[in-house]
Amino acid sequence: MTGPRLGDTRSWRLRGPAPLAGVLRVPGDKSISHRALLLGAMAHGTTEISGLLQGEDCRATMAALRAVGVEIVELPNDTVRVRGRGPEAWREPESILDAGNSGTTLRLLAGILAGRPFCSLLTGDESLRRRPMRRIVDPLRAMGATVLGRAEGGFPPLAIRGGGLRGIAWSSPVASAQVKSAILLAGLQAAGETSVSEPILSRDHTERMLSAFGLAPRRDGTTVTVPGGGRLTAAALAVPGDLSSAAFLLVGAAARGGGELCIRGVGVNPTRTGLLDVLEHMGAEVRREHPRLAAGEPVADLVVRGRRLRGVRVGAELIPRLIDEVPALAVAAALADGETVITGAAELRVKEVDRLSAVADELSRMGAAISATQDGLCIQGDAKLRGAVVSSRGDHRMAMSLAMAALFAEGETVIRDVACVNTSFPGFAHLLADAAPACAIREEMVDA
Ligand code: S3P
Repeated sequence: MTGPRLGDTRSWRLRGPAPLAGVLRVPGDKSISHRALLLGAMAHGTTEISGLLQGEDCRATMAALRAVGVEIVELPNDTVRVRGRGPEAWREPESILDAGNSGTTLRLLAGILAGRPFCSLLTGDESLRRRPMRRIVDPLRAMGATVLGRAEGGFPPLAIRGGGLRGIAWSSPVASAQVKSAILLAGLQAAGETSVSEPILSRDHTERMLSAFGLAPRRDGTTVTVPGGGRLTAAALAVPGDLSSAAFLLVGAAARGGGELCIRGVGVNPTRTGLLDVLEHMGAEVRREHPRLAAGEPVADLVVRGRRLRGVRVGAELIPRLIDEVPALAVAAALADGETVITGAAELRVKEVDRLSAVADELSRMGAAISATQDGLCIQGDAKLRGAVVSSRGDHRMAMSLAMAALFAEGETVIRDVACVNTSFPGFAHLLADAAPACAIREEMVDA
């Protein structure tokens, strides 16, 4: 799983125009799945998780937890049982922990391991080894952990010798749920309270899930505080569908007049729903039906009715609420009337790939008028997209965004390097084949 994806020769071939419609479900939320596994492994008792995402990222978290001695039983229907015995029962891993492509695995696990009095080594694939780590390494060091890494702790592999932590009050310069969560998970094992402040509230799944495990953090504005030394009690959790996976399909339906798409059981946590707000702003009809709560997370059935969309301005304050949806949003913007300007999104340059450059370059190949700025995108709408040979560059969200663009393009599109989609959305191509049969999507092996 770790190697660079250079040998990946899988492509999709699909053709447009092809409408998208129907009633469907998407796999479990990736962020919530990671947290359910990690908190289950820190808790006391058996945590049963249903609807767990079985993508490669979450499988990397499971493998790492097994390597520190946590028992995880896999049952049918995306259900697992995590037998937690508290973090004290974790043991020194005999080998290097491999987070694959998953920043959430590496950063959240580093937070927990910073509290453990043993040595652990963490690495990831070629993409993850290029992603910045000082944002977690600095606070974990300030709490008393020894953390080493390439470039003074800047990049993985990381080596952690943990234990003996003291609580801190940390002010994070970036709005990042991974940073916030890593510090809070270390803080649970520290002496005294730990608080994290962020410039804009990032996704709050860790905070909500801690409450489900019996340890409610305190929130004051964008500062969240946990006590040290608290005990987590096992919980039963149902993971909602992933809005970030639904996002591609929602865009595919919203940007074409007349169609209607329903996606059942999607998480609609307000720290994640920026795309829904923006699509409504662009003129799409987005309805949330049967709202309910699952393990402290709001869930709804989403119904989207397509319309002619218009361009929008998306500024820094909204970015954390749609950080993973910008590539999909760029497709909607290319098809809308008028100009769309996205600013304050420089964080996208340090995701699985530099998503600002990647989305601008690849959509340009399909005829979109889009350019990357230092911290965002500038898109002139009303594009007449045409089929082309494009590449995901090994980024799952790029692959699926390009597939949506292909549904609006005249002629055939080939998207190279698509195995990465298994990190977050196994089965995407099958689902698309059902929901947009006219695209006749085919997965093929091609010469590297
Ligand atoms: C995630 C947080 C976000 C997001 C990522 C998942 C999480 O990353 O982009 O896909 O589960 O905490 P950052 O914390 O780097 O913004």
